[in-house]
This record gives sequence, structure tokens and C-alpha cells, in this order.
Amino acid sequence: MNITYNEQTRVFKLDTAHTSYCIGIVDDDNFVGHIYYGRKLTGDDLAYLMRTTENPFVPSQNNRDRTSFLDTFPMEYTGNDLGDYREGTLTVRTVGGHTAVALSYISHRIYDGKAPLKGLPATFGKDTECKTLELTCEDKVLQLQVILSYSIFEDSDAIARSVKIVNNAQDPIYLTKVLTACIDMDNEDYEMITLHGSWARERAIQTRTVMKGKQSVSSVRGESSHQEHPFMAWKKSTTTEECGDIYAMSFVYSGNFLAQIEANQFGSMRAMMGIHPHNFCWKLEAGESFQAPEVICVYSAEGIGGMTRCFHDLYRNHLIRGEYKDKKRPILINNWEATYFDFNTEKLLGIARQASELGIEMLVMDDGWFGHRNDDNTSLGDWQVNENKINGGLKYLVDEVNKLGMKFGIWFEPEMISPDSDLYRAHPDWAIAVPGRTGSLARNQYVLDLTRREVIDYVYDMVATILHSANIEYVKWDMNRQLSDVGSYGLPADRQGELYHRQVLAVYELQDRLTKEFPHLLLENCSGGGARFDAGMLYYSPQIWCSDDTDAVERLSIQAGTAMVYPLSAMGAHVSDCPNHAIGRVTPFETRGYVALAGTFGYELDVTKIPEEDRNMIPRQVAMYHKYNDLVRTGDYYRIAHYADNHYYDCYEVVAKDKSEALVTYIQVLNRPNYHSRRIHIPGLDPEQTYVIANAEDWPEIKQTEYKGDTLHYAGINIPPLWGDFKGRLMHLAAK
Ligand code: GLA
Repeated sequence: MNITYNEQTRVFKLDTAHTSYCIGIVDDDNFVGHIYYGRKLTGDDLAYLMRTTENPFVPSQNNRDRTSFLDTFPMEYTGNDLGDYREGTLTVRTVGGHTAVALSYISHRIYDGKAPLKGLPATFGKDTECKTLELTCEDKVLQLQVILSYSIFEDSDAIARSVKIVNNAQDPIYLTKVLTACIDMDNEDYEMITLHGSWARERAIQTRTVMKGKQSVSSVRGESSHQEHPFMAWKKSTTTEECGDIYAMSFVYSGNFLAQIEANQFGSMRAMMGIHPHNFCWKLEAGESFQAPEVICVYSAEGIGGMTRCFHDLYRNHLIRGEYKDKKRPILINNWEATYFDFNTEKLLGIARQASELGIEMLVMDDGWFGHRNDDNTSLGDWQVNENKINGGLKYLVDEVNKLGMKFGIWFEPEMISPDSDLYRAHPDWAIAVPGRTGSLARNQYVLDLTRREVIDYVYDMVATILHSANIEYVKWDMNRQLSDVGSYGLPADRQGELYHRQVLAVYELQDRLTKEFPHLLLENCSGGGARFDAGMLYYSPQIWCSDDTDAVERLSIQAGTAMVYPLSAMGAHVSDCPNHAIGRVTPFETRGYVALAGTFGYELDVTKIPEEDRNMIPRQVAMYHKYNDLVRTGDYYRIAHYADNHYYDCYEVVAKDKSEALVTYIQVLNRPNYHSRRIHIPGLDPEQTYVIANAEDWPEIKQTEYKGDTLHYAGINIPPLWGDFKGRLMHLAAK
């Protein structure tokens, strides 16, 4: 890892282990241009790539057609309204109503380490583990500084980018758009990969050709959302899972976002990512600064899989924090699908007693324990225990669960308020609303206005009081509706446009306080399933609930899409009852277990009511979790086959970092009549090492149990047809 600046050519070069990223300062105007991003280069002789010799309108030589220059020059970060007609990254409105911005380089700083981003989640590392380049640019007329930060890591090929805007003028300025990252490059036949979905169908992988014009994914829902995801990649059409060029951006943020590629008239394109400008307007007073959240950029020459593994390692090593960062998580049983709102102390203890005998390690009490909440119409905001249900009180329940040798966890939805709540009756103005309008309800609830200090503090105290009242070791932090009617009774007129972002900052502050005051707490984020599964939340919680759809087959897609960016250690995955509550499908209990093993692993069912043969299988699943979870949590993940593409089977693998073992999960979603075995290629192993199928007893059809690593990869292995649909098996390969 290194960052250099060549004063002669005015080229900055950031080198990671396998990539180089180059920035050039050009012309008398000190334009900051993007030169190169890709495979690692040995030299920095790259200034010619900025096309300043072939462009007839380079301003210092011929200022006749400045707009022609600005409209083609590959910008590192853009100004606005001065002749670059491609969509830009920064727009402002001055007190005089003007919108133009022109940025020029003025200075830079290269230092060891990486500074935290105030109030925001961000990747981190020690001074020996990372280096940062800060490029300070300025609009002299506006007296506005734009500080572009680029951090690189010793053990990663990712680059972390962020932007800080500083108002050095006497007057306030309104920021109407501040994206974080921009990469201008030639469009070499790229395809864009994005993740899209819906409730219970999160993060399906979608690939499309990059066409002329704009193509984007975004959210204006106040959260990263079920529907689209703050991630995009662009790859050559020839790039596969295992090889070829791919670039990606992932946003370390949990609110509105825009991720866009614009391909233009000259065969180049601009990829960019940041906070969505929709209704965004941030008043920056004189002397104040605005910090935009971080975007992680990745380039890999090792295909889609190479990109994925880069994100996994970065997020595991440099984003996720806390006591559980590198630890196996307790196997939990959650009562949501078991009881919904119909539970009491005895019922929960009944589940816990049975669960503890089977090896389950934690009981999580989900929605319905507070106020008078017996359905989803009431009581959000009234975080007092309903002792009619939790008879004996919360401490009694937790103590009894602890006596069984189990931990106890609890559900909250702190950002919300029900119209039918004591809180709303006392403070109707604490809900997000536009004065004079009846707000749109969703799940019969409003969103609390967390731009108000008194609301933030109230919410925090309510949650903390409950956590202090008993030995609670886990919190599921939910968010079950998206924002609408975006208005605050607390903000002045010229700050209403700050609400979306302030709301996200408040959630970060709350979770930061919580994890500091309760450092041993295991926090799991959740949002109507997986609507806030993003890198921002991972900074506060090492795991996030992936989806309300726990069907094993649906989960194959949801988890494959999630694992495109996020490590398996972060994916909340449970075995639930059948017919599945989201889709009605019946799958074997065994298969449900195999699929959940690719995540944090737990149960979401009434263990006292499921068929005995399923219950009897739980100790075996528990043992498998303990046997394989270290590998699943820490290993390298490879997608091998995806049933969304082939319609019949799914296969993925986790390989230990030292290549001493691998776990292959094979799920035959649909059987086919009169079909032979299927050839599966198993990558990532040491080619010269001999591997044995360590669980050969599970594969009686396979007679040969020893193979060289390269044989398994290039020649492959024949997986026998399994009898019936939705069947699965694990193959554990161990170096001999
Ligand atoms: C959301 C979550 C579920 C459950 C319910 C409770 O939908 O995703 O797991 O906690 O809320 O209301």
C-alpha cells in the first residue's frame, strides 16, 4: 500500500496490493481529473490519459470553448452549472440564489491512518493498516472548500472515499446535492449489476447493459430500502464469477441514496454514488462543515467473486465492531413466527425450556411485550412492559431464562410512534408530519421526529431503562415503515430539507450511545425484514436480519444477493416452521437448516409444537453450527451455481483462509427425471493439496473420497441426483 504524488507530472497514485487509482491535477485552473483505476501499475506515467493534448479547448491554451473541455474532462469530483452537462456530484444555492460551483485543487495531505467521520459510520484501521490522501479543492468565488478523502488499506484492495464541504464565506450556503464519489472512465462495454427487491424478496441480483443515458438505483424512502440497494457494480460483459474486470461502489449509509451510471456521447461514462438529492437542502452556516458519508470503491480483476471477497474482508476487518465482531453468535430462538403477538411469560418459558434442552442458547422476545400491544395497531413509543402478558415482570422472565442456561434478547422499534399510544397523546408534534396535513400511516404508525434533541433523548432513555432492568444480552432494533410526509415541527423553514439526513444521523447516534453504554450487547438491526441491510448499519450491529421470508428456497436468492456485498457473518438467518409463513411452501427441516447455516443461524418457530422428527433434528443442526460456524464466519465465499439462473440447483462454498478446509452447500431445488449427476466445480482450494470428503458418510453415492484441489476446481466433482425437491447436503472438504 502506498500513496505518492509526482510533483513534475502532478499525478497522485494510490496503490493497494493489486490495484492502482490515479488522479491528475491539470492546467492553470488546477482541475482535478480522474486518470486511471484498475490493475496495479508499476509507474505513474499516466498524465497523457487526460487527453489534454488532443482536446482543442484546454482552457490555458484556448479558452474559446471552455464548455467543450468541461463536458468531456474526466472529473474526480464535479462542480456545477459551468459547462459540464453530465450529472454532477455537488450543487448549491447561495443566498443570492446562484448555483454555480467551480472546483480547483489547492493543496493535499497524505497521512498514515484514517480519520473517523464525525457522526457517521465509516471503515477504520490503525495507522499501520491504512493511509489517507486528502485533496483540498476550492471554489474561490464561493469560498467553499471541498475536501476529498481517499483511504487505502494494507490488507484490502478497497478504497474508501468521502467528502467534506467547508463554508469559509461570511454568508450561509445551501447544499442541495452532495454526492460522495464519482468515477469518470471510458465505457468499455460495461454491464451494471444492482440489487433490487421488495418486502420478503430483498436483494435479487440484476444485470443490465450500460446504455447511453442514465441508469440508476436509488431510495427516497428514508432508509436504504427493500426495493433498491446502495450498491452497484459495473463489469465487462466477458467478466465471470472467477475472472475479468469489475468495479463496484458500496455506500456506508442507511438513508436516501443515488447510485448512477451515465454513459455519454463520447463513449465515456460517469459512475457516482451518494445521498439522494431528492428534497435535500442543507444549510451550511459560515464556518461550518458538512461531512458526506463514505463510499467504498472496489476494483477486481478476479471477477464478481473477487469483488465480493474484497467487500467481505473489508467489512469484517474494518467496519464491523464490538465484542461479537469475530465471535460465534449464540444460537437464538425468536418467538415472532412462533406466537406473533399471542404470548405470555409461561408460553415463552415453555419454548425456552424445550429449546435449552436441544442446545439453543438464547431466547428472543419479539414484538408485543410493551404497552397494550396485542396487534400491530398500537403502543409504539410506550416502552413499558405489559405485565398482563409478561406476568411476573421482565426481570423474572429473564432470570428464569438465564436459569435454563440461556441468554435473553428483546425487540424494539425505537424510531416509531403509534397514534394509539400515550406518547402520541402527550406529544402529537413528535411525529414526522407536514403541518395541516393528515399524515400517511404505514402499518398504522408514524415515524418519530428524531431531528429533535428531546425526542432522541427520550427514545434513548426508554430503551436504556428497559435494558438496565434485567440481564438483556441482545437487542433486535426494528424499523417497520418508511418515511413520508417529511416535515418537522422542530426545524425552521430553511432546514426542513435536512430532515431525511438528520433522521439517519440520529439513528446512528442512538445506536452509538447504546453500544457504548452496553458494550456486551449483541445488536441486530432489522427493518421489516431486510430493508436496512447496509454497510452503515453494520458499523453498529455485527448482524442484520436479512428478510421476513424464511423459506429456504426464497432465502437462496435473498442470501446470494446479500452476500454479493456483505459477509455471511452478518446475515440473520433462521430455520422456521412449515408451511412457510411468507409463501406457504413446505421444505424439509434439514434443508432449512443447511440454508440458515450460511448466516448467523437460529430458529423462528414454536419448538414445542413442531413435528417430533423435526425437533429431533435440532441437536444435529446445533452441532453442525458449532462445527462449521468459524469457517462460515471467517472464510472466503464463492458462488458456484445459482438456481435463479439455472432453475434447478444452488451451490456455494466457503473456503478457510489457510485453505485447510472448505464447506460446500448444495441445494437441489427441483429434481429432474432421468437426469445424471451434476458436475460442480469447486474453486478456491490449494491446487496441489489433497482434500478428502470429511463427511463421506453423507455422500454414499460418491465412491472416491480424495481429490487434488485443482481436480476439484477444474475437473469438478459429480454430485448425484437427490430424490425429491428441495433437498440439500453439505460437503466438508478437509486437507489431508
Ligand atoms: C418486522 C420484523 C419481524 C418482526 C416484526 C414484528 O417485520 O422483520 O421479524 O420482528 O417486525 O412486528
